[in-house]
Amino acid sequence: MNLIDALNWRYATKRMTGAKVPDETIHRILDAARLSASSMGFQPYTILVISNEDVKKKLHPASFNQPQVIESSHLLVFCAWADYGEKEVDEYMANIAKTRNMDVALLDGFKQAVMGAVNGKSPEEKFNWAARQAYIALGTTLAAAALEQVDANGMEGFNPAQVDEALGLKEKNLRSLAYVAIGYRSAEDQLQFAAKVRREKDKLFHFLN
Ligand SMILES: Cc1cc2nc3c(=O)[nH]c(=O)nc-3n(C[C@H](O)[C@H](O)[C@H](O)COP(=O)(O)O)c2cc1C
Repeated sequence: MNLIDALNWRYATKRMTGAKVPDETIHRILDAARLSASSMGFQPYTILVISNEDVKKKLHPASFNQPQVIESSHLLVFCAWADYGEKEVDEYMANIAKTRNMDVALLDGFKQAVMGAVNGKSPEEKFNWAARQAYIALGTTLAAAALEQVDANGMEGFNPAQVDEALGLKEKNLRSLAYVAIGYRSAEDQLQFAAKVRREKDKLFHFLN
């Protein structure tokens, strides 16, 4: 299936069957999230992959009782790093050096560039920057699931403070941003039959030829 067909096939699945998505399929979707682009390649976010039914049940009331939370196979919680600085930048440099088999000292200039981007931001700006990167991965995840013919729903409909509390995210230096519920559509979900609504192409795009 090509990407456009997959994007037409997918929809924000409100009711799922609860059936489990095979591990290898989930991991291909997670690989796509991992391969997402991010500013400077820094990836200042973490994605929780929840398949434990008790944990999903705990999040249900904090998520306005939306059924996808408990009817999904896996619930991904996209989290921004609450704070980050030189330690995280050094870890990133070490990863580049290891992956590309090079001396980390050769990355000094790049490290200064990343530190410049990080240090120049207030805590709230850092959070917003991290969140923007995480949402790119969220979009990639939705597309990847569609290509796998697995249903998914991006979700912001939850109380972040309650979710952070339920998952102990503060202690992990994380703040919840959005979910992607992954699973299989229920035959009862009428939305799967509704035509897709999108802004007209000439309104969404302004072509400057
Ligand atoms: C970041 C984000 C948050 C969303 N939050 C919710 C949500 O909490 N509950 C829900 O049922 N759908 C949610 N949606 C789904 C959108 O409503 C849906 O993607 C949009 O209406 C377009 O429909 P389609 O995805 O079926 O084409 C969310 C989508 C995104 C991308």
